[in-house]
Amino acid sequence: MKKLRVMSVFGTRPEAIKMAPLVLELKKYPEIESICCVTAQHRQMLDSVMEVFDVQADADLNIMAPRQTLSSITCKCLTGMDDVIEELKPDLILVHGDTSTTFAGALAAFYHQVAVGHVEAGLRTYDRYSPFPEEMNRKMVGAIASLHFCPTENNRKNLEKENITEGVFVTGNTVIDALKTTVREKYHFATEELNHLPYDTKKVILVTCHRRENYGEPMKNIMLALRQIAQTHEDVELVYPVHLSPVVRDAVKEYLEGAPRVHLIDPLPADEMHNLMGRCYMVMTDSGGLQEEAPALGKPVLVLRKETERPEAVAAGTVKIAGVEQDNIVKMATELIASREAYEKMAHAVNPYGDGEACRRIAEAILWHFGKRSEKPKDYHGM
Ligand code: UD1
Ligand code: UDP
Repeated sequence: MKKLRVMSVFGTRPEAIKMAPLVLELKKYPEIESICCVTAQHRQMLDSVMEVFDVQADADLNIMAPRQTLSSITCKCLTGMDDVIEELKPDLILVHGDTSTTFAGALAAFYHQVAVGHVEAGLRTYDRYSPFPEEMNRKMVGAIASLHFCPTENNRKNLEKENITEGVFVTGNTVIDALKTTVREKYHFATEELNHLPYDTKKVILVTCHRRENYGEPMKNIMLALRQIAQTHEDVELVYPVHLSPVVRDAVKEYLEGAPRVHLIDPLPADEMHNLMGRCYMVMTDSGGLQEEAPALGKPVLVLRKETERPEAVAAGTVKIAGVEQDNIVKMATELIASREAYEKMAHAVNPYGDGEACRRIAEAILWHFGKRSEKPKDYHGM
């Protein structure tokens, strides 16, 4: 029997965290040959994830350059993928989410007339410049893909509005599958400093910030807000694993370095990050992935953006949009720090994004689509 060759393509940290469990799940099925191609749009941050999940790349485009532009990422991925597709001849290419790797990976597949499956399909803000360039990337991939794996019913409805109704499956988000393997009760951090944070006596706030549309004035406002929060609350410790982007690191250096009660650390391996999230008091972030993970761990999230394509946890009450203005961020954080009642209202574990079975549903949907299963997998309906 000829196996179905499924090639997962990814390049950045969040794609890797959400695709690694799928690459591994696909390996369990005798009808499938699961291979993976990394673009290495991120180098160190990608390699760290590959190590945590013990996934090896079958092809590595190694494209990352310091301060890379969107065009350079797209061009390098696109031309690099030509050779890989010709050599490895996949039957299906899986891409994830909305990065430049995602878009270029899908476009390269299309140029070679290879079917595309879009994991984490159907997220939308309906603002083409926010998040930038992600909103347009995911729309373009939606137009190219034959299979669409939506984390939630809301995502499926978004695709329906664009007349995408064929090959659509609601699966849950694979990030919840990943969390199930990384979070442990008696976890010992390899990053020694994290074992000694005052989780029980102070409020440890986990912070990340990296988005391109926040570069410049918004990022400055966010950093100044974080500084003010740390300065004015003696019972707070901010822990900030700083993204390796030089633009982000420059802003952090200028506005946050030396501030009291602010711990600036290097990016953490995914398992360390997830366990830190499980122990912290709350999360402040502009990250997409953290908005999905923190609610599952019962941690309130203040989103450092003007909007979100993940309204499910906002509706569930565990995520709030804090925006990118200094005063408002400080005000909203202060409320959560000072008011037990406000905090308790947000601090309950909800899982609108999945039940940890997303990878299995995606694998079964692929097998069904290619005629190797008679039953279509049931959609995920929330927990
Ligand atoms: C990218 C994605 C964004 C995603 C984010 C996750 C695009 C356009 N953006 O943004 O959707 O949310 O990843 O983190 O696809 N760098 C390193 N080492 C690394 C990683 C990055 O040095 O391991 C530095 C490099 O100088 C690189 C820069 O960071 O040029 C920016 O990386 P890039 O992938 O272009 O943008 P991100 O902001 O990371
Ligand atoms: N993450 C990590 N180490 C860190 C910061 C984040 O492993 O130091 C994880 C985080 O838990 C989540 C993912 O990286 O799974 C989110 O990636 P990022 O914020 O870079 O991108 P986004 O989700 O915004 O696209």
